[in-house]
This record gives sequence, structure tokens and C-alpha cells, in this order.
Amino acid sequence: MNVSILGTGYVGLTTGVCLAFLGHKVTCADADAEKIAALGRGEVPFYEPHLADLIEESRHNLCFTTDYATAIPNAQVVFIAVGTPPGAGGAPDLQYLQAAARGIGQHLSGNFTVVVNKSTVPIGSGNWVGSLLRESYEQKKGRKADGTFAVASNPEFLREGTALHDSLYPDRVVIGADEAQTAEVLYSLYRPVLDQTFQPPPYLPRPEELGAVPLISTDLASAELIKYAANAFLALKISYINEVGQLAEKVGADIAQVAKGIGLDARIGTRFLQAGIGWGGSCFGKDTAAMIATASEYGLDMPIVKAAREVNRRQRERVVEKLLAELRILKGRTVGLLGLAFKPQTDDLREAPALDIAQKLIERGARVKVHDPVAMERFRKEQSSLEVVCCATPEEAAQDADALVLVTEWPQYRELDWENVARAMRTAILLDGRQALDRARMTRVGFRYLTLAG
Ligand code: UDX
Repeated sequence: MNVSILGTGYVGLTTGVCLAFLGHKVTCADADAEKIAALGRGEVPFYEPHLADLIEESRHNLCFTTDYATAIPNAQVVFIAVGTPPGAGGAPDLQYLQAAARGIGQHLSGNFTVVVNKSTVPIGSGNWVGSLLRESYEQKKGRKADGTFAVASNPEFLREGTALHDSLYPDRVVIGADEAQTAEVLYSLYRPVLDQTFQPPPYLPRPEELGAVPLISTDLASAELIKYAANAFLALKISYINEVGQLAEKVGADIAQVAKGIGLDARIGTRFLQAGIGWGGSCFGKDTAAMIATASEYGLDMPIVKAAREVNRRQRERVVEKLLAELRILKGRTVGLLGLAFKPQTDDLREAPALDIAQKLIERGARVKVHDPVAMERFRKEQSSLEVVCCATPEEAAQDADALVLVTEWPQYRELDWENVARAMRTAILLDGRQALDRARMTRVGFRYLTLAG
């Protein structure tokens, strides 16, 4: 099929490249000319494992443009995957979505086109996008838009760092549309994923246990709500284990064992029960805020979702409180932070806990040294006002430090020569913010080893 994707961020680019890999003809459009030129040269604008490889492999089916006149008229399916950054009062800022919808409306050829909301958008946006499309089409062409397009919702569940795997081997595909014909078009588009009929690339092997991928075909509003409800549930699962972690600390229980013990109940599940500093990233914070904002428009309170946000905010403060309890005075102390990205395998710094923690430590008079294996370059560019010392190695961040905090559990940190790291520090205090290291080993090599759960 001829497919166009508007927006080449994590969601848009990954979706476009995967659809091209599956055999569709894909045009990726973005207003950022520099980004489009770089993509044309095969350069990927962010860190995502194997994305460059898959672009290379699918190049014959891919084209990049800044121009809607190239992207829209021939497309059978147009995905809107533009940014919906946090706006005022918790609701996302929809200016890019609005511009995209208007742009599509002006360039529709008149042949039936399915326009898909892939960005996470507030419930009801499907209808709103439909009215914008209709208005701009009718203004431009001077004739009725009936039968020229339909709007669908196809929420995205990919995680940064495993975006390609999640797109090719999803747990489910959700399609929201108010007419059967629209759902049929998307069903055909995703058929290779649903039936798993494609030959996997060698670097992205198909999980052995994976059978056919379930399809949820539903109405627009339900699809839109599924996305928010899924992200909020994952966020509250993390906050729940972090709240239990606080109790575990008080009673002397081991939170990792508790998480395993409850997670093996199939009704609960072991994933997203990793206690620690809590969530960051562009989705959980924004989507829980948007869900609360939507609910409040209907006079509804969402106390559970609100509490999950509050627990998450408190975890960051608890890092500083722990260090304060150990060091007594933070003024003039040096604290090393290992990991800046909001999670491993990405260079994304949006809502990254490390930024908050660094800021809080600086406010208390501490000197902060930071290291990240991948995100340093982006950090220097985006966070130049944060007064920290950037370090080329984790050892450098630890040198003469009074405490070290593991903020992001990059696998390479597990492999450090921790004995040497402990020796290089002024006081060997290690706060493992992700429960990623082995307590017995860390204690053996000389650390006072702490976590947020005891
Ligand atoms: C998330 C959703 O998982 C994905 O389905 C959605 O489409 C976008 O938002 P992402 O933000 O890329 O994906 O990362 P994810 O792996 O979900 O992690 C989010 C945050 O939660 C990270 O900061 C991570 O460190 C934290 N986390 C995750 C925990 O603290 N504990 C866990 O057990 C799992």
C-alpha cells in the first residue's frame, strides 16, 4: 500500500521504517528540513538500536520529504505521528496535530484515504481531526468531502530502546474506526504483523513463543482510551511497587523478592514491577496528566492516577533525602550521577529523573558530576544551563565523590570494576536507584550500599 507518515519522531519514524520493511511504499514527511536531509543520507536523529540497519534494508520502499504535496495525494493511508508535547494544565499541546490535519485536508486527492491518529491524542481527537480535514478540504476544493476520507485511531505501544521489536512483534494491534471499511484498510496494512508472515531481520529475531498477534478492532473513542488506560496502568504499577518498597524498607523486607513473589501470580505479572527512582520519559507523565485533565472536563476525579504521579514525584525527592541522611551536609559535597537518559538504550532526556535529581542537589549546594554512555552529547546540547560537570567515563564521575547514585541501569554499569570505583571515591557511598546491582558484591568491595527500598 502507499502510506505516508507525518512526523519523524520515535513513533513516526519507527512506524514508517517497519511498514517499509514489511513491503509498503512509505513516505515520511517532517517540517524539519535538516532532519529530512539527514534521514535521506541514512542518519538517524536519535539513538534507537538497529533503526539505522532497518532503514538501510528498507530504503527501496522509503522516501523522505518536507512537502505535503508529495506525501498526501497518492497515499491510501496517512498516519499523523506529530508531537503532542505537554501543554498548559495537563492537556497536551495540539498545535502540530491541528496543522497536520489542515495540511492533509488541503492535499487530499479525492480518492478514499484513511487518516490515522498515531500520536497519543486526547479522547475525542478523532472527531476533531475529522472536522478539520473536512473543513480544509472543502475550503480548498470547493466541493463536499463526503467519501474522500475517514479517520481512525491506531495507538502505539512501542517502548524507546526496543521500538523496532515492539512494532514488529507487538502484544496486540488496536484499531479504532467508526466504519468497517476503514478498519479493513488498516487490517490489510497490518496483516504481515498480525499473521507474522514476514522474514525477520537477523538482528530482530521473532520471539519463539509468539503466535498470531491479537487485533482489537473497536470504535474511535475506545481506541483512544485504551492508549491512556494502558500507560496509566503501567505507571501506577511502577508507583505501586515503589510505595510497597517504602514499606519494605521499614519492615526490613527485600523488595526484589516481594516483586517476584507477587509478580509470579499470573493475574499480576512480573513486568513493570522494578522498584527504584520511578518513571521518566515522554509518555507516562504526559499521558497520566492528560487523562486527569480529560476526566476533569467531565467533572471526574482520578485519585488512583493522581496518587501514582505523586508517588513518582516523591521518589526523586527521596534520593536527595537519602543522601542527606548519609552525608548530613550536602553543601560542598560531590555527588556523581551514573545515567542521564530516562532509561537504558535511549538518549532521550525528556522527564529524565537524573535532571530533576541534579537540580535538587545543586540547589542544596552540592557539586554534581554526571555520566551517560549514550546521552552526553544530547545532554550538553539540551541542558546547557544545568551546572554539572560532564564526565567522559563513570570512573571520572566517581573520582573524589562523596556519593554515587546509579540513576539509569545501563548494562555497562553492571560490568564496572566496582572495587576500583569504590577506592577512587572520597566516601564509598552508593545509592542504587534502580536495584540493578548485587548488594552482597557491592558491600564486599567496600561500598555502603543503599537503595530507595532499604
Ligand atoms: C512507555 C510505554 O511502555 C509504551 O507502551 C508507550 O507507548 C510509551 O511509553 P517508554 O516511555 O519508552 O514506553 O519506556 P518504558 O520502558 O515504559 O519505561 C518508562 C519509565 O518507567 C522509565 O523511566 C523506566 O525506567 C521506568 N520503569 C519501567 C520503572 O521504573 N520500573 C519498571 O518496572 C519499568
